[in-house]
Amino acid sequence: MHVALLANLKKNAPTWEGMSPDRWDDLDSEETIADITRALESGGHKVTFLEGNIELAHRLPKVKPDICFNISEGHFGDAREAHVPAILEMLGIPYTGSRVLTLALTLDKPMTKRVLKYHNLPTPAFQAFERANEPLDPDMTFPLFVKPSREGTGMGVTPESIVYNEEQLRAQLRIQLERYDQPILVEDYIKGREVTVGVVGNLAAPVARRIPDDVEAPRIQRGLTFLPPMEIDVDRYESEAGIYTSRIKTELVHEFYWTCPANLDEEAVEELNWLAAAIFRVTGCQDVARVDFRLNEEEDNKPYILEINPLPGLNPEYSDLCIEARAYGWTYEELVNRILDEAAERQGLLDG
Ligand SMILES: Nc1ncnc2c1ncn2[C@@H]1O[C@H](COP(=O)(O)OP(=O)(O)OP(=O)(O)O)[C@@H](O)[C@H]1O
Ligand SMILES: [Mg+2]
Repeated sequence: MHVALLANLKKNAPTWEGMSPDRWDDLDSEETIADITRALESGGHKVTFLEGNIELAHRLPKVKPDICFNISEGHFGDAREAHVPAILEMLGIPYTGSRVLTLALTLDKPMTKRVLKYHNLPTPAFQAFERANEPLDPDMTFPLFVKPSREGTGMGVTPESIVYNEEQLRAQLRIQLERYDQPILVEDYIKGREVTVGVVGNLAAPVARRIPDDVEAPRIQRGLTFLPPMEIDVDRYESEAGIYTSRIKTELVHEFYWTCPANLDEEAVEELNWLAAAIFRVTGCQDVARVDFRLNEEEDNKPYILEINPLPGLNPEYSDLCIEARAYGWTYEELVNRILDEAAERQGLLDG
């Protein structure tokens, strides 16, 4: 197939005076694009890279790809990850990964948590703040955790995100509201181990976007491949307070401490996989996603869903999903081509 690889390169991103230095931490490097290109080529495909911006509307009809491999994170707005898929849908071009609604929803953590709550899926109690002086809900108790609603790569996540009293909470809210200019999410702080689960594939139809109320009902996860859970050995970073911070995800990425498969018993892995499948399903994910959890040490390691990432990082060396794929026995090439094949198959491109 002719595949258009669509991404937003850090080096192509707009800059302006006073821009926060972490502003484009989410975007991709040229090395990652070269790695994905090589992987797709090894699968027998022709690859054309295009920056994921409005120019696609003119370029793609000329390039005429069979499918787009989309990892564009977008630049601005509360649904930036949904911008490129929206253009692709208007052009009628197939693409990999989740669609517009899912990418817009999951970028917004409070909105996603409302959906999780509706389905009784475990996620830390929370409150979203638009102003630093809004009263704290009486059922929110310290310690709490403060982070932006719509960022990734740990942006805004530092040891100071853990707050133990009103004064620290208000100070963090002021800093993050000013820096990130979006609602700030305050959650119960979950003390415990940190694990992430990669999922590749698609739930076999028909699967409505809801979870049965009956706990005895069969756990629907057919069609999904669960990669082995990876534990981030957060306690090995003395300076990071047991949190998978922005610093670990950027500056310290080459001295990354992790264990994969995580040291968990079969029952615990089964529960994580079920929760990963459940959030994949209720948020309408397709082809690939990575679900981040914390295991609460005060509740016998009960897993709490922090978020789902339908555009997980694909750096072959240090991205969580790629490490998990390796532990599963897949090469990087196999992982990338599997994502493409899942999308192609679902859209009828593999027939005949
Ligand atoms: N409620 C919480 N309690 C304890 N730690 C938390 C909580 N929320 C977030 N964290 C810590 O902060 C890290 C980053 O949080 P989260 O996954 O929500 O942010 P992110 O920037 O979207 O991450 P990603 O790089 O996966 O996109 C988590 O991996 C975890 O270590
Ligand atoms: Mg995360």
